[in-house]
Amino acid sequence: MAILVTGGAGYIGSHTVVELLSHGEQVVVVDNLRTGHRSAVSSAARFYEGDIRDAAFLKKVFGENEIEAVIHFAASSLVGESVQQPLAYYDNNLFGTYSLSSAMVEHGVHKIVFSSTAATYGEPERVPIEETAPTHPESPYGETKLAMENMFRWCDRAYGLKFVSLRYFNACGAHPDGLIGEDHKPESHLIPIILQVPLGQREAIGIYGDDYPTEDGTCIRDYVHVMDLANAHWLALQHLRAGHSSNVFNLGSGTGFSVKQVIELARSVTEHPIPANVSPRRAGDPAVLIASSDKARSVLGWQPKYDDLGTIIRTAWNWHQAHPDGYSD
Ligand code: UFG
Repeated sequence: MAILVTGGAGYIGSHTVVELLSHGEQVVVVDNLRTGHRSAVSSAARFYEGDIRDAAFLKKVFGENEIEAVIHFAASSLVGESVQQPLAYYDNNLFGTYSLSSAMVEHGVHKIVFSSTAATYGEPERVPIEETAPTHPESPYGETKLAMENMFRWCDRAYGLKFVSLRYFNACGAHPDGLIGEDHKPESHLIPIILQVPLGQREAIGIYGDDYPTEDGTCIRDYVHVMDLANAHWLALQHLRAGHSSNVFNLGSGTGFSVKQVIELARSVTEHPIPANVSPRRAGDPAVLIASSDKARSVLGWQPKYDDLGTIIRTAWNWHQAHPDGYSD
């Protein structure tokens, strides 16, 4: 039986496909390639190009493969864009998940691991953030991800669809073999943007605000390596296979780094001065986001391998140096 990975040509999806294959899983990937890259998908996985909102397409995929479980990444994921285009997010994220869940129920597939986000919490009341913290998303992105989680909750009750929802903090880094990595166009994430400076693609890094209530005035985030995230998906699948009930887990390193600290580490990894200047705050950025991942560690047995941000940045740097313009497709 196969594991269906939606959005498997995207950043975290493609790394998860590699992780699943390394455990001997049979993998089927669907992706509409709107933001994903065909060449990011391992040739050992069966690939279908198409959109999960297309019921006929899903019928074909579920009809041609014996799907045991789904890992669901296919979604739009830019906070700023979601504020500008909320309806596009409701369409792609919520309607897409409705369409996928309907196909699962119709074909008797009852296990799903879901790619959720720290954006479901909004501005936290306290850090580290536990899964029991209130959810007050501050963007259509976070709002639709929370609604997708709730859709699964109701589907569990009505149809016995078991889910594990993984709320990631700041995903970063690249596969250590350097063959796959991060490639968003346009790029909005801190580490790849910083690395554009030593690559000669940008003069300097702009720091979005240095007047936050933190030690050096810049925002603090919890950076977690993409292969550690990928491994958590495999563990979540084992959790569902063992017959456990549906659950939600945070995934983060539990350690916060400020924007200035990340830049400093990137300087030492790349041996480049990386000039930085301060620009205005970006709307909607909370000052501090740090995960408590105790639950994932104790219940799923998750043990992140990459606990050093310098090493994480090095994996990203290896990827970007070898692929300065990202994927060719
Ligand atoms: N930043 C800069 N300059 C840049 C880019 C980012 O200073 O050029 C800062 C941001 O202001 C933020 C930090 O670097 O303080 C990290 O920014 P990212 O855009 O890399 O990541 P975010 O923390 O904004 O986003 C992450 C996830 C989202 C999730 C969000 C929840 O990537 O999926 O946290 O708030 F929705």
